[in-house]
Amino acid sequence: MSKKTVNDFNGMVEAKEKIVYLTAYDYLTAKMEEKAGVDMILVGDSLGMVCLGYDTTFPVTMDDMIRHCQAVRRGAPNTFIVGDMPYMSYQASDELAVANAGRFIKESLVDAVKLEGAGPMIANRIKAITAAGILVMGHIGLTPQFMGQIGGYKAQGRSAKAALSLVKQAKLVEESGAFSVLVEGVPSAVGKAITERANFPVLGIGAGPYTHGQLLIYADMVGLYDNFTPKFVKKYANVGEVMVKAFSDYVQETREGMFPIDGEHTYKMKDEEAVEFWSLLEKEG
Ligand code: KIV
Repeated sequence: MSKKTVNDFNGMVEAKEKIVYLTAYDYLTAKMEEKAGVDMILVGDSLGMVCLGYDTTFPVTMDDMIRHCQAVRRGAPNTFIVGDMPYMSYQASDELAVANAGRFIKESLVDAVKLEGAGPMIANRIKAITAAGILVMGHIGLTPQFMGQIGGYKAQGRSAKAALSLVKQAKLVEESGAFSVLVEGVPSAVGKAITERANFPVLGIGAGPYTHGQLLIYADMVGLYDNFTPKFVKKYANVGEVMVKAFSDYVQETREGMFPIDGEHTYKMKDEEAVEFWSLLEKEG
């Protein structure tokens, strides 16, 4: 299957086909996701928690993101990939934002970048990056890089005023030139209202069933990341349990001398080489 483009995503919205979006952070996972047929992969700064063991996304650096985007690109050469701009890689100025967005494209060959927020400053960043010819996905609602201001990791837009403000934020992101917006952690009614008023693809994570597409963090939906599971996650598998069982079996069998089995998990030597080997050893004493 060939890599989808912005035109394909707009066409999917028109045809009422759902856009399937999933995070990945490494070569192997990206390869499996491409095989499964996802439309779009996000290399999220959730990398910080899922792969690097941090409690938040704040410590994630541009170099972390670039390295993992490169691995994901190698695993999924035919999938549209979005690189997530980490904390303080775009907030300080338009120039910094454009330079770092450019690094994503140049060094890791992703197709677009994503950035959080929707005030006038973020609108300027979206305009500046878009003017440099780079596709931008906005991200509104539960935006972890703005954790302090939004009152922690919790659903947004639950009051009428906050919900209306999110609808306006989505419009601002659209008018600033983003090719799409990701809406995270809002009531279904808010996801629906934003989607109905949008002229670009609206992806949702924890935003209900009415958005044009859905995103999940892959480690949540396969049961690998168990530190915390948001309400909106559906667990499609329990890979974490399968892995712990495999590791435990290996520990036990190795300790008991049941692994490896000679002749089954071992390399062979031709009989004549083995005979000569033993005679050489004997001569060596
Ligand atoms: O970093 C990430 O994976 C994200 C999603 C949670 C929306 O931004």
